[in-house]
Amino acid sequence: MNQQIPYPFCGPEFRRHPDPVYQQLMSEGPIHPVQFPSGVCGWLITGYDAAIQVLTDPRIGKNHALGNAQWRARASIMPEPHHTRLQAHMLHQDPPRHTLMRSLVSSAFAPARIAQFRPRIEQIVNCLIDEIHAHGQADLMTSLASRLPLQVLSAVIGLSDAHRIRFQPRWCKAVQPVGPRDPGRRAYVQLLTELQTFIDRVIAEPAQGDSSGLIAQLVDAHHAGVLSYDELASMLFQLLVAGQEPVTHQIGNSLLAVLRHPDLTPFWHGCTASVDTAVNELLRLDGAFEISTWRFYPVPTELFGATIPAGDPVIVALNAANHDRSRFECPHQLHTDRSPNSHLSFGYGRHFCPAASLAKLEIDVTVRLVLEKLRDLRLACPIDQLQWIPAVLARGLVSLPVNFTAA
Ligand code: HEM
Repeated sequence: MNQQIPYPFCGPEFRRHPDPVYQQLMSEGPIHPVQFPSGVCGWLITGYDAAIQVLTDPRIGKNHALGNAQWRARASIMPEPHHTRLQAHMLHQDPPRHTLMRSLVSSAFAPARIAQFRPRIEQIVNCLIDEIHAHGQADLMTSLASRLPLQVLSAVIGLSDAHRIRFQPRWCKAVQPVGPRDPGRRAYVQLLTELQTFIDRVIAEPAQGDSSGLIAQLVDAHHAGVLSYDELASMLFQLLVAGQEPVTHQIGNSLLAVLRHPDLTPFWHGCTASVDTAVNELLRLDGAFEISTWRFYPVPTELFGATIPAGDPVIVALNAANHDRSRFECPHQLHTDRSPNSHLSFGYGRHFCPAASLAKLEIDVTVRLVLEKLRDLRLACPIDQLQWIPAVLARGLVSLPVNFTAA
């Protein structure tokens, strides 16, 4: 492999000012041999056109079985048996298994169905805001952004209240795997074991939930022999756990962007209908998925002048593509009327996020209700003091302290 550069999307300076790093990488070319903090060496793809090319490349695969021994030895992936039991979901599958799994969830997230949840999401967000309303100050990550997704998901996929109450927020950390050499590996294994027990219980007691909901449909698909038990458990893991963190982070990133632009508050107040264009711009400006998940070529492959060994991980820099000047004018600026805006914050191609409509609705409702109900909203600390989570794939805030005029 060529000279490795350290994974460039980490460190406090990058988190505060990502755009110079994106621009530097894209000016150097579309492919970069990088070393991740775990020690894994891989290939980072930057630039909008290169990202689309790789995300739609029919030769590239997602199944972890394609990864080579060097990747497997150091990658921050789940230990067994959890890897087999929780990582068999569609994001780690290729056709035809991927096609089948995706077909089982798509109608539950169809835009027309999701639109019907607007009043329910408004109700949930209103309740969460009411809890902080009188205080004049809050951390919007802990009081709102991290509490919303599970409540919304439960309604959308039919998780019962009894199961929802048992769900531990710390289980969401399962999506940030702890590598085999990390001292935190033992605690991570314990967390996975608890989560697996919870999922087993949801599967064993589907009658507690909405019998026509997505969870019940997937359990039925297992009983009909369409999904194996591991595939079912893994799909529930992906929907319930992996589906929460990006929403939390994206709400935080979006609220921060709004707070940085108080001049736009009248725009948000004036919106009566859906603000899809502006929400897409919040997603493009600061996406919660900094990079894509791993992809692998099954055989040595020429790509942008480099030879990628079989099974080396390839990762697409989604947020860098969203800041590609050849695609987006003044990419570091927030333009609420930016159109067209074909950002990659939900990925692209076969694995494009099936829940994009739901995520956008949650952002739309949250941003507007926060600005409407928390008057005179402002950051409670200098922007440079905000802490970003130390994740490799995800981009999100640890906390978002704000002040406002108490009701
Ligand atoms: C703002 C919030 C969200 C963002 C930014 C986001 C982003 C993404 C991205 C970038 C991918 C593709 C990753 C890749 O190709 O490597 C993806 C896939 C996926 N997302 Fe989301 N997501 C969000 C919310 C959700 C929610 C709420 C759910 C469901 C409960 C969900 C379920 C999925 C699933 C099942 C896939 C895999 C699709 C496939 O492999 O065909 N996501 N998401």
